[in-house]
Amino acid sequence: MWIWPQGALLSTGKPNIEWLVMRFDIVTLFPEMFSAFLTAGITRRAFESGQVDVKLLNPRDFAAGNYRRVDDRPFGGGPGMIMMAEPLTLCLQAIRAQRAKSPPVVLFSPVGRQLNHSMVTRWAQSEGAILICGRYEGIDQRFIDAHVTEQISLGDFVLSGGEIPAMALLDAVARLQPGVLNTADSHQQDSFNPALDGLLDCPHYTRPEVWSGLGVPEVLLSGHHEQIESWRRRQRLTLTAALRPELIDQARRAGNLSVADEAFLAGFA
Ligand SMILES: C[S@@+](CC[C@H](N)C(=O)[O-])C[C@H]1O[C@@H](n2cnc3c(N)ncnc32)[C@H](O)[C@@H]1O
Repeated sequence: MWIWPQGALLSTGKPNIEWLVMRFDIVTLFPEMFSAFLTAGITRRAFESGQVDVKLLNPRDFAAGNYRRVDDRPFGGGPGMIMMAEPLTLCLQAIRAQRAKSPPVVLFSPVGRQLNHSMVTRWAQSEGAILICGRYEGIDQRFIDAHVTEQISLGDFVLSGGEIPAMALLDAVARLQPGVLNTADSHQQDSFNPALDGLLDCPHYTRPEVWSGLGVPEVLLSGHHEQIESWRRRQRLTLTAALRPELIDQARRAGNLSVADEAFLAGFA
């Protein structure tokens, strides 16, 4: 018999909707940056329907004094300003007061683990999180030590703030939700997807058949599905071997390369 976890049912016996919805609370000094993102493109369906529920909170609204100050100079000297722990903590408390369960607290930071497909898949199946967007030189370490459960980086470069990484994560998560893409499961045809053994995507072409004197690979016009699929597989193998050989090694270790794949790669190498 299925036993509902504590808090999953309301006192009326009905399911608590908070347990069923994916919710991301974004803590940002620039909530206005998200308006175009949340209302444009294919992922807007997920956000507008609440399938991926996004709430925006500004730590400045939780800051003390007339100036609502959220940053101060670093102890020990040095350039720039540091986001203060207190407004962030009050903001976090306000979010937690609205949520039935205490969600993970993610900080976007260059020191975090680099975002990849398997992390996105995990978040796409989660109940969401509180996402903290840093600004200035970063955040008081005491806040990080006290509250942050995971740090995520977008890559080995430095941005001005965590808003773009937050949007990158939300976009990647939203497009994996059922019904968001026009063609169901089309994300399975994308690079890194386990359905394609983690390889890179193959090249794509569309009309006209001749553009600027350049044609389209003959096989794609043949209507022969088996040959098209085989051409695409070989293109994926070629591209991945040339650009990301470690993904070929991963696929090989996972036992995902067929005898035909190996023979093709041996000829290509
Ligand atoms: C100017 S950066 C601070 C960089 C920090 N002093 C360092 O060198 O690691 C301001 C904020 O942008 C965000 N950020 C910058 N680069 C990022 C990256 N590669 N991945 C994720 N977040 C990043 C973080 O939230 C960070 O607190």
